[in-house]
Parts: sequence; C-alpha cells; structure tokens
Amino acid sequence: MSLHFDSAAGTFTIHTANTTYQMKVDEYGYLLHLYYGARTEGCMDYLVTYADRSGMCASPHDVADRTYSLDVLPQEYAFQGAGDMRNPLLVVRDAEGTFGCDLRYVRHEIRDGKYGLPGFPAVYSESADDDAQSLSVVLADKRTGLEVELLYGVLPKLDIVTRAAIIRNTGSKKFVLKRAQTACLDMVHGDFDVITFDGRHAMERRPSRRAVTHGSFSVGSRRGMSSNQYNPVMILTDRDTTETAGRAWSMSFVYSGGFLAEVEKDQYEQVRMQMGLSDEQFSYPLEPGEQFVVPEVIMTYSGAGLEKISHNLHRCIRKHVCRGPWRDRPRPILLNSWEAAYFDFTGDSLCRLADKAAELGLDMLVMDDGWFGNRCDDLRALGDWTVNEEKLGGSLKQLVDYVNAEGLKFGIWVEPEMVSEDSDLYRAHPDWALAIPGKDPALGRDQLVLDMSRADVRENIFEQLCAVLDQANIEYLKWDYNRSIVDVYSRFATDQGKVLYDYIAGLYELLERLVERYPNLLIEGCSAGGGRFDVGMLYYTPQIWTSDNTDAHDRMTIQYGTSFGYPCSAVGAHVSACPNEINGREVPLSARGLVAMAGGGFGYELDLVELPERAWEIITHQIETYREIEHLVREGLYYRLSSPKKDPVCAWEFAAEDGSEAIVCAVVIEVEGYGVADYVVPRGLTPGAMYREVNSDKVYPADALMDMGVPLPISSAPYMSRMYRFERIG
Ligand code: GLA
Repeated sequence: MSLHFDSAAGTFTIHTANTTYQMKVDEYGYLLHLYYGARTEGCMDYLVTYADRSGMCASPHDVADRTYSLDVLPQEYAFQGAGDMRNPLLVVRDAEGTFGCDLRYVRHEIRDGKYGLPGFPAVYSESADDDAQSLSVVLADKRTGLEVELLYGVLPKLDIVTRAAIIRNTGSKKFVLKRAQTACLDMVHGDFDVITFDGRHAMERRPSRRAVTHGSFSVGSRRGMSSNQYNPVMILTDRDTTETAGRAWSMSFVYSGGFLAEVEKDQYEQVRMQMGLSDEQFSYPLEPGEQFVVPEVIMTYSGAGLEKISHNLHRCIRKHVCRGPWRDRPRPILLNSWEAAYFDFTGDSLCRLADKAAELGLDMLVMDDGWFGNRCDDLRALGDWTVNEEKLGGSLKQLVDYVNAEGLKFGIWVEPEMVSEDSDLYRAHPDWALAIPGKDPALGRDQLVLDMSRADVRENIFEQLCAVLDQANIEYLKWDYNRSIVDVYSRFATDQGKVLYDYIAGLYELLERLVERYPNLLIEGCSAGGGRFDVGMLYYTPQIWTSDNTDAHDRMTIQYGTSFGYPCSAVGAHVSACPNEINGREVPLSARGLVAMAGGGFGYELDLVELPERAWEIITHQIETYREIEHLVREGLYYRLSSPKKDPVCAWEFAAEDGSEAIVCAVVIEVEGYGVADYVVPRGLTPGAMYREVNSDKVYPADALMDMGVPLPISSAPYMSRMYRFERIG
C-alpha cells in the first residue's frame, strides 16, 4: 500500500517506487510537512526544530509554548491568519470583511484509485494494476465554517504524487476566497536553484535557472491563459543538480488559466515552493453550502537529476492525463494550410495540396484559418462558424470527400472562444464578449474574447461547432486561442472576481462535451502557438501546437525546454518553408525534418506543390522514416543529450523503455575553425548488450556507446544533421 496513516505518530506517509512524502498532524491539529525525497521508512518529525526564536513569531492562542510558531514550522497547506507570514496558499475574507482563518485537522480517508475533480482535468488511473490511491485530509476553520479538503493522489510506479483541494462553506455566512492555491512544499533547509520556463509568442518555454535567495521569486500569468510568457511548470533543484545527477522537485499545474508559481526563502533559510491560481482579479465568494475546486498540481521528485523528473512527468501525462483513442495511436502526418497559403486558398488549391500530400505519403490535410464567414484576413468573422462555400467553390462535404478519396483524412481549424467585432455573432450579441461597461475593450489581433463563463454562450458555440463537424468526415480539429484576456466583466457574474476561473471551468465543460460527442476526433490545442501548452489542455487535446515559430534552429530550443515538463507525444512540430517566415533563417530540409520528427504531432506546413523534385524525394523518405520511429517518439523515454543554447551540437534521443531500440538525433549548430569532431553520447541502452545500427552493418557495444558515444561526420557547415537508429542484438 502506498498510503499509510500512523495513528500513534499522526503521520501520513505516501510511498512511491523511489520516493517518500510525509506529513503529520501535530498535537495542536496543524498539518505539518515533514519530508519529500528519496524513499525511506520511519518518521521524519525529527527534522522539525522548535525554539523560542523571538516575539516576532506568533503562537496560536491555545498553544502554551513559545517555541511553537507557524511562522517557522513547515506547512502542508499554508494559510493566512494564524501566524505564518510567508506566502500563503489560502487567503479568506469573511462576511464582516475580516481576513484570517485557522485551519486544523478534522478527519481523513484513504481510498483505492485516483480521485477525480468535478469539472476539472486531473490525473486518472484506469487500471487496478497502477496501484493508485487517494488520500483526503479535511482541515477546518471553526469560526467561519470553512473546510478545506486536501486531496492527494499517488501513482506509485511512476513516482507521481498529485495534490488538489476542495474548499467548502459549511458555515452560515458567505466568505470570499481571495487566494486559493493548490500546493506548497516547505523545505527546512537547503541551497537551491529554481528552474522556470519562460518566453514569449514564437519563443516559448526556454528553461531559465537561478539561485533561490532571500525574498520571493515568482512567475505566473495574469492573461487568462497559461501563456506563451511563463509556463506552469516549476522545478526546484540543489545547486549542483544536473541532467543526470542530484535532487529535484517539480510542480506542474493542471490548469489552463492564470497561475502563480513562487519560491520563497524565509528568515530561517527555509524554502517554500508553491503553485496555484493567480490571485489577480480573483475574488471568489462561497455561499453556505457551496464548494470551490482548487485545480490539481502534479508533483514528482528525482534523486537522479532533471532527466528523471521529465521521465516521470512524461509517463504520467502520456497515460494518465491524455485520453481518448489517439492517446495510444500513431497520429496522422499532416499538411497544414496555414504557412502553405495563409488566407489565400480556394477549394481547388486545397485539392492540389491534397493531391501532392497523398502522393508523398502524408495522412491528412488540415484547412487552417480562413474557411468561414467572410474571413479573408484576421480582422473579421470569428464567431461566424459557417462554411464560406463561395471561397471553397462547393460544400465542405464535397471538399472533404475529395480529400478522403485521395486517401487522406481531413482536419479543420477553429478559434471558438473568440469573436470579431466585424461578425454576425457580435452584431447579434455584443454582450457575449468580455468587455467592461463604459470602457472600450482592449483588442488583441483585432478580436474580443467570448464570455465562456456563460452557459448560453457555450451552447451557441457548441451548436455551431457541431453543425460544422456534422457536415463532413472531419477527423481532426485544431482549437486555437489567440489573445490574452484584458477586460474582465461578465454580465451575469455575482462577483467579477469569479470570471477568469469560471471562464476556464466553462472552457473545460465545452471541451468535455465535444470529446464526449466526438470520441474519435483528434483535437490539437493551440494558442498563438504554445500559449496554452499546459497539462490541463492535454486532458482534452493529446497534442498541442508547440509554437508559431517553425524555424528548426529556434524549435530545438523550444522543444528542448518543452521536454522538461511535457512528453514529446504532445508536441506539434511541422516542417515549414525557408527562409523561415518568423526569422528568415535557412536550414536544410533534412535538419528541418529531423527536428520536426521529435514531435508526436509531426507534419508539414508549406506549399508542397511548389517544391523542387529533390525536396519531394526527401519528404517521402522523411515520412517513411517517421512511420518507423513514431512509436518511440510517442512512447519512448526522451533524453536531452545536450543543450541547444550551451553546446555546439543539439542532440536528443528516444529509447524504448526496455532498451531494445533507440534513436539518437543530432544537429550541428555551431561550426568553428576546422576539423574538430563532435561526439554524441546516448543513454538508456542496456548495459552489456550489443547494438546494431539500422540500415548499416555497424555494431556497437552499449557500454562504449554510453561512455564515449559516436562521432558525427565532421561538418563544415551548420545544420548538418544525423539520426542514428540502434537495435539491440544481444
Ligand atoms: C495562430 C496559430 C497558427 C495559425 C493562425 C491562424 O497564430 O498559432 O498556427 O493557425 O493562428 O490564424
């Protein structure tokens, strides 16, 4: 059993294969965090120190012991109001307008299986073989009737511990949540770095590592989306932790809206890491009897460097977050019309693209933006999800039937949460857009955001989407979202502080309805590229368009950073034209293909018809190769063999879990001087075994490969690329 309560000691212990998490209800009813680290037995309450530190530390009134202060003690669910002056997870304002609560242990329950969260995405377990368990610990504030049910889930084989909370008003008066975060991790000592994943539109999720010093460091999003700028994944490490050695703890937020991830070093050199909902424009009233779901955080610990953190998260997200038949199937290799034609296409030109795509062996044509209403540019028509038959020169069904007859699937782009001022929908329902009465709303890409907190708005969009999807055999939907929310006002909200949270709850409800109605539809998430690349979206969309930046050079950095928190199966990656539309860079087609093949959502996004014959040959070969290796990209272990920002060669590897095969990929980024050989050193092979290089007669001992590696051909120009495929032979 992974979860254990020791009633004599008051400790809850969660064991996974390699880790242990422990907390304790102390004699005063406070829930103290004791330990999260390498697997161990025993009670770790000796780690907590008590001393009469100063009058500045507050002791609870019923504790006649000046050595006891919540300002020092490691907390399991830090709350404002009883003396802990560090960053809180919970801040509550009562009916009289007063802040402050005092949460103490009431009861707990241990159950088999993994808990779910009503209306919100969460890690799931489908099989008893997972040995998943859940713990619920209820804390309560006597004065207000506020109850916090802390939820813990464990997937022991994957070293995954999840946390979430449900806040209930069991009292007789309303109170207001001013801050409701999910999890903190209090470390009583240590010298740490914190890694976050920062960027911007077209340059998302670059890892950035800094020392944890006194004070508070935070990243987050106040954009109503998880954002291109900061990603809701945070990793705490020892100062000397590397890719393959040292301790690391991570938190990933299973939520697609605004978030806050913080790390704070306190007066006693203790460190608190925490994650949860952003508290900006947040103010959530709970009437008696109401409850509030605090979305889930996935936690994992590694004693073997960052690679292990990623492996744990990849396994968890691939099989316990992503759902539906496409979770376990090869995804269609697609041709997307966006960078091939932008708005400038007709039904006929799409058919010519489909002809070529079929000839080269692709699986699907995706009609991106521009097919609906009078959408001839990005100034209009969002919200009018009616097929522009004039532009297509016929019905959607005719086009899709043609594409299907070519042996290709058909996919379509939508941006359902948005509305253009120049649209029939907006003209009919101006109050459906988020806008503050009396204030001109801020525009983003000339569009407004629909109020997804409203059921009538969601209903209209759902019906419009169904009307499109029911017209023809559409097997893939790219769900886009291209701006931040600025103006937060919903006509029927009882408190405008609810809107951003209710928006995301509404989005999840809409997506869930769609997933239920079209269980075989493959949905790809997108938000100006990777603006909503988060675990919450992956519950509905098993792949996400990673970035609008399709330049292979930049993509190596973006995909490298993305891989820390997300499996490659989720990564949408396409080969596009050169010079690249974003940065003008020229990279050979071979390297562009290799980089895009590191994504589970592989495809092309350029005018295939216009390419020279030699390019068609290369593409045909890339597609054949991808089909052979795709299972490793989707299910294999991913290894970051070097860093695209620090090393002259960017190298990565996918290896089967059992070590039976591996692919090692490398792109030379920097060529200096003359003649220096670069070596690529794989990992994850079976020690003692021999490996054969596929399509070659070369045989290598695994130990030598993992020690000295293989030399790359000496290159005189950047972007020379190679893929080595190794098969274990004995
Ligand atoms: C966003 C997406 C692109 C493309 C365009 C269409 O920018 O990220 O991939 O779909 O919208 O307008």
